[in-house]
Amino acid sequence: MKEYLLLTGASSGIGRQCAIQLSKDYNLILCARREENLIETKNLCNNSDNHLIFKCDLSDISTIDEKLNNFLIQNDIVVSRFLHCAGCLTLLPAKGFDYELCIKTFNTNVFSAMAIMKVLLKKNNKKALKNVVLISALYSKKGVVGNSVYASSKGALDSFMRCMAKELAPNVRVNSILPGGVETEITMTTPQEQKEIMMKDYPLGFGQTEDVANMAEFLFSDKSKWITGQQFSVDGGASA
Ligand SMILES: NC(=O)c1ccc[n+]([C@@H]2O[C@H](COP(=O)([O-])OP(=O)(O)OC[C@H]3O[C@@H](n4cnc5c(N)ncnc54)[C@H](OP(=O)(O)O)[C@@H]3O)[C@@H](O)[C@H]2O)c1
Repeated sequence: MKEYLLLTGASSGIGRQCAIQLSKDYNLILCARREENLIETKNLCNNSDNHLIFKCDLSDISTIDEKLNNFLIQNDIVVSRFLHCAGCLTLLPAKGFDYELCIKTFNTNVFSAMAIMKVLLKKNNKKALKNVVLISALYSKKGVVGNSVYASSKGALDSFMRCMAKELAPNVRVNSILPGGVETEITMTTPQEQKEIMMKDYPLGFGQTEDVANMAEFLFSDKSKWITGQQFSVDGGASA
């Protein structure tokens, strides 16, 4: 059966760049909510006709299982690689705790990855699965004022990654990438004042989407065949 790499967050930013670079070597399932943007990504990819679009709101956790499972069955395909790049940034001081916003953030950033993994580990797909990369964040391991919801969702994603690496070895490798500040739609919501404070922490300045996509390419390649259960900081030295 034809094998695909499932890429969430493919409609913009880091996900779109990963799609462009990974499309040289893999057939992609491009997933996000904005269909027009996904079509744009598909058109920017190498071998554009080989890739499929899967429109899905990942914050709607209860629908993921049925939607993804049906998508795989209808297209008669399996997912051998999974790159979870979808994410939503929530800046909220603890005193402004908002349960609904926290649930949306955790659903998008971490619970959707768990729900997707459940589908990929079903009988019809399990044997095909080889490699999983989760896009976490530098702030999973670095405290920043007002970032507790986003940071803890990424921390949960990293813990999930480590457990999956053990649970699924030796057949499936699972790693995460922790990007620092990269100029994309997500960072447009960060106030300029906060960006200037953040910049002081970056010996190499802010990054570009290809800096993260290059690490994803490496983790999906055989050059990383002895690596699993690890967090990779790609952050211009911000965590040093
Ligand atoms: N840029 C940075 O500085 C930075 C730093 C550290 C980590 N990251 C992480 O890198 C990843 C990509 O972020 P980015 O910077 O490239 O930002 P972006 O351009 O805003 O991309 C976010 C992606 O997530 C998708 N998404 C968000 N909510 C979704 C939902 N409910 N259902 C399905 N898809 C959803 C978006 O697609 P739709 O809106 O079309 O649904 C979009 O494709 C995120 O996980 C982010 O946390 C980014």
